[in-house]
Amino acid sequence: MDAHNGKPATEPPPARLTVDGKHVELEVRSGSIGPNVIDVGQLYKDTGCFTYDPGFTSTANCASKITFIDGDKGELLYRGYPIEQLAENTSFLAVCYLLLYGELPTNAEFINFRRTITNHTMVHEQMTRFLTGYRRDAHPMAVMVGTVGALSAFYHDSTDINDTRQREIASHRMIAKMPTIAAMAYKYSVGHPFIYPRNDLDYTSNFMQMCFAVPCEPYIVNPVLSRALDRIFILHADHEQNASTSTVRLAGSSGANPFACVAAGIACLWGPAHGGANEAALNMLQEIGTVDRIPEYIAKAKDKSSGFRLMGFGHRVYKNYDPRAKVMQKTCHEVLDAVGSKHDPLLKVALELERIALQDDYFIDKKLYPNIDFYSGITLRAMGFPVSMFTALFAVARTVGWIAQWKEMIEDPEQRIGRPRQLYIGHPRRDFPAE
Ligand code: SDX
Repeated sequence: MDAHNGKPATEPPPARLTVDGKHVELEVRSGSIGPNVIDVGQLYKDTGCFTYDPGFTSTANCASKITFIDGDKGELLYRGYPIEQLAENTSFLAVCYLLLYGELPTNAEFINFRRTITNHTMVHEQMTRFLTGYRRDAHPMAVMVGTVGALSAFYHDSTDINDTRQREIASHRMIAKMPTIAAMAYKYSVGHPFIYPRNDLDYTSNFMQMCFAVPCEPYIVNPVLSRALDRIFILHADHEQNASTSTVRLAGSSGANPFACVAAGIACLWGPAHGGANEAALNMLQEIGTVDRIPEYIAKAKDKSSGFRLMGFGHRVYKNYDPRAKVMQKTCHEVLDAVGSKHDPLLKVALELERIALQDDYFIDKKLYPNIDFYSGITLRAMGFPVSMFTALFAVARTVGWIAQWKEMIEDPEQRIGRPRQLYIGHPRRDFPAE
């Protein structure tokens, strides 16, 4: 291993491919850990063929130093640090610094970073007019997509992506303002007045007070719940090139401003196959209702024609237990104990559903395990968040991952506008019918 860049001292031998009798050699590149990649950038020029990989199951779209997942081992590293160690030993804001800058902050760096983020938590007062333009029953993710995109209209002084300082200010603004916007979306949905940020509170406690405080009485943050939510934010902060992160990268590759790119990421995260799964998983557990109905739903999940899937189960990369789900389950028990709901019937259904599924050959053969979304819904509901807010909370946490990946892409000399090709299966050329 080469000391200074973490790459192997000797590159692997090239891959050899024969297409229509033509032999080509393709460079094979190694990272510091994980699978090698076959560089197919010249494939079309050399063979006249494209690669074909819908869903990008075997396709790397970038080189990145931020996050690494070993799906077989069930390992997740942020800048090399295991997720379970970060969740146990540090704060979400320190993890934001780590993801953005590559190293854990010194005490002085953390104090400075916290002050910077704190001073960006307010949004332009006129943004409240966007909120009041929505229906009260608008889904919070609809509000988030629209309002975050609108940040581009207010913060012109940090939209020049070629200016290093503007990129940094935009990154800080995104991390700082997402909790404020998410809290405003929640308050608007319940008809409460918006609660301003408080600079005397830490990042996650401030978010909780913006959600749950009312002007009529002081709000006391429950330290157990605040620590639990902070840990949940750490678990959701980044996850390699997942669908929403890839969306942010692709939007950013055209030179779009970071606020617009994050709005695109929020839109993608909303899908039930992705970040919307936490809301869908809780709705599923509520629909199952009792332990005796679990076998009926297991059977439905195994029946392709049903179109039903166990929400919160399965993952494109993890073919072993999602390490975040383990920490989430532990946090779930802590929160339920803290709020006096340790006998929550939904937790009983979730634990029994997991036990049965993990013994069932269908799930074992397809390597389907609970993912981060399986226990998060029960936990967030116990904290007082409505189901409709679950994915918005995921977006608050994932913003730092989107921004760190966007910044890495902008600063990557290899980056170009993303423009995939296709396998065309439509009509060959044909003329417009004569009169
Ligand atoms: C997140 O990418 C990320 O990193 C995402 C994420 C992040 O932090 O950014 O980790 C967050 O999105 C977690 C995933 C949340 N989604 C869900 O919980 C929704 C339910 N899960 C699935 O829809 C599915 O497992 C996916 C979308 C998560 C993964 O889909 P893949 O990798 O494309 O797998 P697949 O759809 O090809 O499924 C493989 C097989 C299929 O059966 P066969 O066609 O091979 O016979 O497994 C089956 C599927 O039918 N299957 C399931 C299942 N998930 C997959 N069967 C029942 N229940 C499920 N949940």
